Amino acid sequence: MSIYLDNAATSFPKPESVYEAVMQTMREVGGSPGRSGHSRSLDASRILMDTREAIARLFNVADSSRIIFAGNATEALNLATLGILQQGDHLIISSMEHNSLFRPAFMLGSKGVELSVVQASREGLVDPDQFKRELRPNTRMIATAHVSNVTGGVQDIEEIARIANEAGVLMLLDAAQSAGMIEIDMQRLGIDLLAAPGHKGLLGPQGTGFLAVAPGISLRPIKAGGTGSSSGQDHQPEGFPEGFEAGTHNTPGIAGLGAGIKFLYETGVSNVGRHEKQLAEYARERLATMEGCKLFGPLTPMRRSGLLSLAFDGLDAAMLAFQLDREYGIAVRSGLHCAPRAHRTIGSYPEGTLRMSPGWFNTIQDIDYFCNAIFSMKPKGMQ
Ligand code: ALA
Repeated sequence: MSIYLDNAATSFPKPESVYEAVMQTMREVGGSPGRSGHSRSLDASRILMDTREAIARLFNVADSSRIIFAGNATEALNLATLGILQQGDHLIISSMEHNSLFRPAFMLGSKGVELSVVQASREGLVDPDQFKRELRPNTRMIATAHVSNVTGGVQDIEEIARIANEAGVLMLLDAAQSAGMIEIDMQRLGIDLLAAPGHKGLLGPQGTGFLAVAPGISLRPIKAGGTGSSSGQDHQPEGFPEGFEAGTHNTPGIAGLGAGIKFLYETGVSNVGRHEKQLAEYARERLATMEGCKLFGPLTPMRRSGLLSLAFDGLDAAMLAFQLDREYGIAVRSGLHCAPRAHRTIGSYPEGTLRMSPGWFNTIQDIDYFCNAIFSMKPKGMQ
């Protein structure tokens, strides 16, 4: 038996079409995009263009040439923060951020950027007015995660973006746990910068991600190198997108990401999100009956998404995760999930939680198997 419930780390399995697109690109395309005039290179460029178009359509990005491919959401968040903020600017984030946003923000602190961290509630939710209260004359950006990778809590991004727009500050959305599971319309919401991984909800391969940038926003490149354009000049070109994509692209990965997004169009983002949430809610219902089991996340179901964090007093989550893997073939994640402040916020620091995160390919039987395993392990652990 092998049950994968760690889709918040990376989705698995991928749709068959994703594996095929990766393999086909490696075996049959092979060229490096934007580097040469031969047909393999041109075909590779077309793959990049098609995936950029697919992303633009999915998130209603105004201009697909302002979608910058990255290796993951972390790289995209680094570009969005380090590539914009400078000494004297003020940045507001929340206590629920993943280290992929918190650490570049903290790094900017040592470069003279002022940082405010708004405190979320014990449920892991932020009152949007807290962002408003932190605004200063030099605030340049509000940056926050749409969905917490620890609790699955969905922030009121519509209101947070409205506050940012009204104040004339940039709104950066970390969509690592929402892209592909919650519909996001960048233009309607007023999101200026959207960072997402390609390998989670978008069902592409690892090593993919992107930053989408609204028109009119300038960035400084944070890496320099070959772009296949303006090769005679010494300084890094700053044109979108190539100025920010130095080095050879992950064309097979980007082809796979395009196939993942096509699968999402056919299946429906909201159908995927609903399915995953139903599975997480079912696990929540069953485990809520278990003595000693603490369930984290928002109390209002509307603010929950498709993952569930839990803990048992006196039981080590890492040990439970290990046992689930070895004895039952169930893959989950335990610990701090690279978001220590989120755990401090919800009261699960330093031990962390056990997190189960179902995906599109999981069934209710998988969740029953998981819950039964927890029920049967707990007495052993409590002895
Ligand atoms: N951020 C990913 C997770 O939460 C890796 O597991």
